[in-house]
Amino acid sequence: MPVIAIIGAQWGDEGKGKVVDLLAEKVKVVMRFSGGDNAGHTVVNPYGEFKLHLVPSGIFYPHTVCIIGNGVVINPTVLISEVDELNQRGVDTNRLFISDRAHLIMPYHILLDGLEEELRGVKALGTTRKGVGPAFTDKTARLGIRAGDLLDKEALRERLQFVLEYKNIILTKVHGVNPLSLDEVYSGYCRYAERLAPFIRETSVMVEEALNEGELVLLEGAQGSLLDPDFGSYPYTTSSSPLAGGGCLGAGISPNRINRILGVFKAYCTRVGSGPMPTELKDEVGNLIRERAHEYGTTTGRPRRCGWFDAVAARFTSRINGFTGAAITRLDILDTFPHLKICVGYKLDGQTIDYFPASITALERCQPIYEEVPGWQAPTTHIRQYEELPPEAKQYLARLEEFIACPINLVCVGPRREQTIVKTPIF
Ligand code: IMP
Repeated sequence: MPVIAIIGAQWGDEGKGKVVDLLAEKVKVVMRFSGGDNAGHTVVNPYGEFKLHLVPSGIFYPHTVCIIGNGVVINPTVLISEVDELNQRGVDTNRLFISDRAHLIMPYHILLDGLEEELRGVKALGTTRKGVGPAFTDKTARLGIRAGDLLDKEALRERLQFVLEYKNIILTKVHGVNPLSLDEVYSGYCRYAERLAPFIRETSVMVEEALNEGELVLLEGAQGSLLDPDFGSYPYTTSSSPLAGGGCLGAGISPNRINRILGVFKAYCTRVGSGPMPTELKDEVGNLIRERAHEYGTTTGRPRRCGWFDAVAARFTSRINGFTGAAITRLDILDTFPHLKICVGYKLDGQTIDYFPASITALERCQPIYEEVPGWQAPTTHIRQYEELPPEAKQYLARLEEFIACPINLVCVGPRREQTIVKTPIF
């Protein structure tokens, strides 16, 4: 049975949480493979509304095993409070597991995220300041501390002592702030160890076993493809790969196991944080989209930048991920507009281009070339069959499908599970 990867196809916040919550009903394992608690996955279901930062969105089904994979960086405090909140609201977390290889976010990561942003001044990346970037930096620098280290307290102290000496030099000599106390950090992480130890496993084996038993596995992407450190708008990116390829590494699954890759696109575009966004609307239309859709960050509460659908970027993310299908979310937000625009090319220094440039300065100079299409000016939130959508909405979706170059499987017309139109079945 296959692995299905659910991938953010724009700048994050595409509505992956809803899609995963919906599809998880049919799968055995749901696994997060990248990012950390910079992600905020909103799920609305019979338990209520949840904003999940680390726990996979499949947690609401009693038969679904949820795994935080090796490619995720975990802030133990955030995870423990998320588990507590879920339990208080009647959601069972006994099927939640954490990879022993997942790196931990440490107090110095959070401090450094803020301090480094301050140092960048006007060039600040607009990070979520959750310590995610510095934790991935340490993973690559071989200075990380992993979930599995919590299981051996003596070794944990030795490792922490080594790393903290190094970090305290940076905190005091580079940033001029107070050092962190080994005893305080250590005792805090020993307390987390008590709570988290029962969840920690060699999770890649669990996934392998599920697949060998013929079960379906869902990889839950975090962030969006345009925030990928290699292919996104570097340096205005996140620090781990949100791409389908990142799913193999971050979950410990062979590429030959993934046979469906679902790209999740909003029917328009949003971006939170700094960096170029060619279709950003700094006008009334942008404000209208933001207010209709309540486009404010799930993790930071920051207003999201809103704009028209960028088909140049969409074609690019479809190509680098190899999407086999797409979900278009929040179509209903466009219900009131008399006309819609789709960005079909960029004007760069007087030339028309149809690709997403690697150079950040080039991307900053790109002006969108729009194709205007009629709006439908009718409510869609009650519609459940594709055929019942207004003709202009179907035309809009058909045009997006041409750019994305793969079939649209799902169209979402509201936050609830049932507000979903299946255009082409996934299973
Ligand atoms: P970081 O991942 O916190 O380091 O932030 C780097 C960039 O990625 C910033 O522009 C953030 O706003 C953006 N970012 C990180 N996580 C998300 C997300 O889940 N949704 C949208 N943007 C995100």
